[in-house]
Amino acid sequence: MTLSTTPIQSVAQLRCISCGATPDSAAQDFRCANCGDLLEFTFPEWTYDPQALKALWLHRKALLKPLDQSGVWRFRELLPPIPEEHVITLREGNTPLYEMPRCARIAGVENLQAKHQGMNPTASFKDTGMTVAASSAHQQGFRWVACASTGNTSASMAAYAARGNMHSLVLIPEGKISWGKLSQSLDYAALTCQLRTDFDGCVRILNELVRQKPVYLLNSVNPYRIEGQKTAAIELMEQLEWEPPDHIIVPGGNLGNSSAIGKALLEMRDLKLISRLPKLSIIQAQGANPFYRTVKEFGGTKLVPMTADTQATAIRIGNPASWKKALRVLRETSGEVEQVTELEIAEAKAEIGADGIGCEPASAVTLAGLKSLRQRGFVKPGESVILILTGHLLKDPDFTIKFHRGDLFGGTPDDRQPPQTSRLQRAPVVLDADLGAVVAALDAAERNS
Ligand code: F0G
Repeated sequence: MTLSTTPIQSVAQLRCISCGATPDSAAQDFRCANCGDLLEFTFPEWTYDPQALKALWLHRKALLKPLDQSGVWRFRELLPPIPEEHVITLREGNTPLYEMPRCARIAGVENLQAKHQGMNPTASFKDTGMTVAASSAHQQGFRWVACASTGNTSASMAAYAARGNMHSLVLIPEGKISWGKLSQSLDYAALTCQLRTDFDGCVRILNELVRQKPVYLLNSVNPYRIEGQKTAAIELMEQLEWEPPDHIIVPGGNLGNSSAIGKALLEMRDLKLISRLPKLSIIQAQGANPFYRTVKEFGGTKLVPMTADTQATAIRIGNPASWKKALRVLRETSGEVEQVTELEIAEAKAEIGADGIGCEPASAVTLAGLKSLRQRGFVKPGESVILILTGHLLKDPDFTIKFHRGDLFGGTPDDRQPPQTSRLQRAPVVLDADLGAVVAALDAAERNS
C-alpha cells in the first residue's frame, strides 16, 4: 500500500445545528445569522477507504514532522483543512489509556480503562481543540484571541496564542478557579481579567466584546475547537484496535467535549472505521446540573439556566452553550445522564489517585457517575467502560490537600463525612526528625493496610 503523508484537503462546510443554514463563514460569535443557534462543521465530500486511513494514521506515528507527531493533526483527514504554515502545535494528544484495576473492583465492572487527557501539554483536554482553533485564528490574521473560562480553556488558549505570536485575553470568575490554572495563563503572558461574576457572567461579557473588537473567540462555541477535540475519540479507538467499548463516560460542563466525542463516534461509524457505537454518558455535579435536568425533567425540550455551585470548579457552569449538540449525541449513542454529589466526586478522585493515575475534581465525576450507572443497571458488570479524565491531578492541589486533611467540606452541608471517605484520606504526618518515629509510623501504616 502506498502511504501519502500530505494532508488531503477535505472540504469543510459550516452548518447551523437548528435551521440547517450553510453560511460560507462564521460571525464573530459563531452564531447562525438566521436563528442564533450554534454552527458545526460537516464534510460532504468524504469518501475514504477506512483501512487505508487507519494504516496512514499509524504510519505517521513513526514520522518526525510536527504535524505527524501531534496526536491531533495526525488525524487531519477528519479535520477542517488549515495550511501547514499556520498550524500551531505543542504535540498535543497522544494521551495514554490506562487499566484501572482498583477502580474497576470498586465500581463493579471487569473491564475499566481511563483515557487521560490531562497528559496534554497544558495538562487538560482543551489542547486538542485549541491547536485547531488557534491555528484558524492565525490563518485569519487575528492579533488577539479571547475566552471566558473556568481555568483550563484559558491556560490552553494562552499557551497556543503565545506559541503563535498572538495576544490573548482571559476572562475568569474571580476566586472560583484554581491557582494552578490561573498561574498558567499568567506565565503564558495572557491579559488575565478576574471578573466579579461566575463563568456564565464571563461568557456574557465576552459575547458582547467580540461584537465590538476584532478579537477571535476561542470558547467551544467555536466549531474548530469541537473538531480538534474529536481526535481524543479517534485516538481512543485506535488504541483499542478499532474495537469500540460498550461505554464512554465524560464530565459535562459547557458540553463541548461530550459533543465533540459524540460527533467523532458518529463520523467514525459513518466512515466504517468502527462497526458499532459505544454509549456515551455525561455526568454533572449535582450543584451544576442544568443538562441533567434538561434530560430528566424537561424531556430534552429546553435548558433552564441555573446558578451553579460545585467544588469541581472546572464544571461550575449553569448555562452550557452546547447543550443541543450534547443532547443529540446522547440520544444517537443511547447514552445516559447522571448527577453526582460533592462527596461522591471527592471519593472518586481519591480512588482514581489510589490507582496511581490521579485527575482533577471535574474528571472524577466520571468514576462517581459510573458507580451509580452500574448500580442502576445501565452499565452491566461484563461491559467494557472508558472514563475520559479531562484534567491533571496537579491542576487543583488545594482540593486534594483539603480532602486528605479533612477540610474540604468545612462549613458545607457535607461537613459530616461518611466513614468510607476517611478510609481514603492520607493526611501528611508531621513527626520529629527521629528514626524511631518514622519506623513507628511505617509499622502503624502496615498494620492498617
Ligand atoms: N473537565 C475539565 C477539567 C474542564 O476544564 C472542563 C471544562 C470540563 C471537564 C467540561 O468540559 O465544558 O466541554 O463540557 N472547562 C471549561 C474551561 C469550561 O473554561 O476550562 P465541557
